[in-house]
Amino acid sequence: MAVERTLTILKPDCVRKNLIGEVTRRIQEAGFKIVAMKLTRLTKDTAGGFYAVHKERPFFGELTDFMSSGPCVPMILEKENAVADFRTLIGATNPAEAAEGTIRADFADSVGENIVHGSDSVENGKLEAAYFFAESEVVANKA
Ligand code: RTP
Ligand code: MG
Repeated sequence: MAVERTLTILKPDCVRKNLIGEVTRRIQEAGFKIVAMKLTRLTKDTAGGFYAVHKERPFFGELTDFMSSGPCVPMILEKENAVADFRTLIGATNPAEAAEGTIRADFADSVGENIVHGSDSVENGKLEAAYFFAESEVVANKA
């Protein structure tokens, strides 16, 4: 299997609930290597740019309000099969439908406030990583 990169965001609800440490621990324990990471706060516009694919959806206003409601933690993660494996680790979009033991099942309150983002393809992972990080902010994968 190929080594891939995926982009995650620990969303504002994750930060508000003091779950940065616990969620990061689970991500690392599952074998993901963090190659870039920052604490930032999105504006409604930068959140809208990130989720532009959803701009015609009825939940777009709520989504961009929520994503700009407080600090969040974007990270680039590296692992074999990272994109699919990360989606498995976080569980379904709606926590009520997320498999037992997944991050969303354990910590998310609703479909709108679901703790973490995960890229849905390798190609989108690259675009999303570039949305948040300059190449110089990504640590070289030397070891
Ligand atoms: P994400 O992009 O954040 O990792 O979430 P996802 O792939 O599991 O779900 P996606 O379809 O990409 O939706 C993006 C985010 O929009 C919010 N949403 N709300 N109210 C609703 O029906 C609804 N549907 C989606 C969620 O916060 C979802 O994470
Ligand atoms: Mg998505």
